[in-house]
Amino acid sequence: MEQSEPTVNDCLVFSVNGERFEVSTIHPSATLLEFLRSHTPFKGAKLSCGEGGCGACVVLLSKYDPVLDQVDDFAVSSCLTLLCSINGCSITTTEGLGNIKNGFHPIHERFSGFHASQCGFCTPGMCMSFFSALVNAQKTQRPEPPLGFSKLKVSEAERAIAGNLCRCTGYRPIADACKSFAADVDMEDLGFNSFWRKGDSNEVKISSLPLYNHNDKICTFPEFLKNETRSSLLLDSRRYSWNNPVSLEELQSLLGSVEDGNGTRVKVVVGNTVGSTVNIMNGLKSEELTLEEFFRRPELDSKTIKLVRGIVVPDDGTSSPAYRASLAVSFLLSSLAIWLSLILNLMMVVELNRQYHPVGEPIAKSGAALQASGEAVYVDDIPSPMNCLHGAFIYSTKPYARVKGIKFKPKSLPDGVSSLISFKDIPGENIGSKTIFGIEPLFADDFTRCAGQYIAFVVADTQKHADMAANLAVVDYDVGNLEPPILSVEEAVRRSSFFEVPSIFNPKKVGDFSRGMAEADHKILSAEIKLGSQYYFYMETQTALAIPDEDNCIGVYSSIQCPEYAHSTISRCLGIPEHNVRVITRRVGGGFGGKAIRAMPVATACALAAYKLRRPVRIYMNRKTDMIIAGGRHPMKITYSVGFKSDGKITALHLDILINAGIAADISPIMPHNLLGALKKYDWGALSFDIKVCKTNHSTKSAMRAPGEYKLHLFLKLAGEPVDYTLPSIWDKLASSSRLKQRTEMIKQFNMCNKWQKRGISQVPIVHEVSLRPTPGKVSILSDGSVAVEVGGIELGQGLWTKVKQMAAFALSSIQCDGMGDFLEKVRVIQSDTLSLIQGVLLLEALHQSPAVKLLDSAAIFWLKD
Ligand code: FES
Ligand code: FES
Repeated sequence: MEQSEPTVNDCLVFSVNGERFEVSTIHPSATLLEFLRSHTPFKGAKLSCGEGGCGACVVLLSKYDPVLDQVDDFAVSSCLTLLCSINGCSITTTEGLGNIKNGFHPIHERFSGFHASQCGFCTPGMCMSFFSALVNAQKTQRPEPPLGFSKLKVSEAERAIAGNLCRCTGYRPIADACKSFAADVDMEDLGFNSFWRKGDSNEVKISSLPLYNHNDKICTFPEFLKNETRSSLLLDSRRYSWNNPVSLEELQSLLGSVEDGNGTRVKVVVGNTVGSTVNIMNGLKSEELTLEEFFRRPELDSKTIKLVRGIVVPDDGTSSPAYRASLAVSFLLSSLAIWLSLILNLMMVVELNRQYHPVGEPIAKSGAALQASGEAVYVDDIPSPMNCLHGAFIYSTKPYARVKGIKFKPKSLPDGVSSLISFKDIPGENIGSKTIFGIEPLFADDFTRCAGQYIAFVVADTQKHADMAANLAVVDYDVGNLEPPILSVEEAVRRSSFFEVPSIFNPKKVGDFSRGMAEADHKILSAEIKLGSQYYFYMETQTALAIPDEDNCIGVYSSIQCPEYAHSTISRCLGIPEHNVRVITRRVGGGFGGKAIRAMPVATACALAAYKLRRPVRIYMNRKTDMIIAGGRHPMKITYSVGFKSDGKITALHLDILINAGIAADISPIMPHNLLGALKKYDWGALSFDIKVCKTNHSTKSAMRAPGEYKLHLFLKLAGEPVDYTLPSIWDKLASSSRLKQRTEMIKQFNMCNKWQKRGISQVPIVHEVSLRPTPGKVSILSDGSVAVEVGGIELGQGLWTKVKQMAAFALSSIQCDGMGDFLEKVRVIQSDTLSLIQGVLLLEALHQSPAVKLLDSAAIFWLKD
């Protein structure tokens, strides 16, 4: 067949949320996500993994088929979609569904009302994955759904978000929000939400959901784009061209037309699944299908799932058998709920305590709909100020070495690299983070002391160029005449390399170990458990934006859990007074402890670069660098000896714990205190231990959810918990302080009045030490009666602003301000910056004279905020 000459476009043409875009100069490696985030106002699609694994960047891509006159819609990961591949396509982001000004889409509203977002970083991607399923269900020939529902089935609604990762919320509320659109949903199956109260009838529930009318279609492909020229040869510029061959012949002729040996390089981007197979295990048989066969196969349905019927008896050795049995029974019962509801009179009696109205009421989280619609502003969503530069860290790949210099591979440096900043550029102190146990330098000086230590900060015109430059840096190391690095806790013990643990964090032993062992019928004299590290995997990586201001001042937007610490770190590093620094944190895209101490050097490096270059500097760290520098949870080696009676009662336990803290102290000296706090919930008879916090040439380990306690729980699971809890006095005391008896009685009453829904209560032995710290707030009542409340706490998605809003509304209503109407509507909670409010920890230190109290309270801050 004769090949027609490909037509050439001067530029790419596509649309985003109905707006036409033309791009004439773009590097062929540019992704759709990069374009959306840096060239459009639509920042809903987020960069998280950057490799198609998490779904945070999902958008809807629509293509028009002029022959069939139809539009095909797909959910795509915009981080993997090359911009050149979307010529003639239409993109819809979550902002294209709705927004605060013109009204949110019911998807946004239901995500919000079902409490389906916490930090919200994954939420726009979730919404778009689900929207794609909704749009495609609309195209089917299925019967018209009732008003408020779609043609989607529950199983499809759940599957729609199967490729999206959420690190905070838990998938139940997210799935509930999606399932609420499915025509075959069982309303009883939907969990807590702010739309209805327990006990409301199905009619009430359906009517209180934000209305979805499946006939109100969102136009995913604008008319004007249908007439745009489509060509197979694109972007013919002096430097690059992009071709879209649609047949093998076209591809061969294209490859044949490229001259060899003259430096021209062809990169082939392949985007199909030819030859892929799927293996399905069916009992003991394995079936191999081509992808096409797999997609043509009927879905697995619930008939193929064998439920345990009758009495549920877990197998011997099943862990937590009672819990698992109750799950199986609940599952069975919920599937029977529909017909049971026909024969039972399901009258629910729910009493809501309105004494502190609206405190404690299940309202939608403040800002949740904004998170869903992509309008919530995270640090990297703040538009770049004029002349803004971008930074990337060059980090050490050696655990211990002299740093002789940094070079870049010749002729490889991308355009736009403007500066390399190292410890020599620091006007003040070489400090990147601080805790009560000491500081960690911002940059390696003449020596690097761990792989992952920051050596320099390269600054360029774009984040991509800065990252490329950092990758191309060649650090000249010298390890001659240096001691070998300490790479294990055993080596740290051999060389006595430890961090000092203040006596307040050294717990006391219990009883006499030798006597306890003497009482034992059986003994394990030495056993060993090794526990590894763990990465935080916040969806939003470390990020900051620093803007120099007049009079030697600097403002820093940081995704940090403790901005007040970054504040003084920046001031010390820059050698300027603290009143010249302002750190602002509006929201954080997931922290889990990793945005506490580990976020400080990121903010400080940006501040230093901005201060030196007198230009704004920002960073959004790539995932690989983030994983290398983050540190994470402490690895440990635990060796133990234990004695126990024939009935399983433990009489003595001794632990030798070696904690790998990495190169800097960070918060590691609190670990012995936390580890033992978790252990002491049990009666071990006698308990003795020797805990060492080892200093090694690994990256610094830091706070991570329940630091220490979690590890000990893991140890207890592996080593076996004592079977006999002999803590009757503490048990009784706890029962009385928690009003267990009265609450059990209330639950009995509730259960008597409710035939179907039941409540339960249990008492679980756990110790988690929490200390309160006073955190000031600032309330401004404005001339129109609206109220702004500034808080020092950080909104990580846990709902801090919502709680503050409810409390402010309660306080205002209790002073009976006339004409205020709905107080919740009147109150806006905003982030404070570190200059406008005195931070709690400083106040606490002023109030408490005891150094011990200061230490404890300051340490507690790191996980109280998460
Ligand atoms: S899938 Fe694109 S950022 Fe994770
Ligand atoms: S809410 Fe999903 S990652 Fe935070």
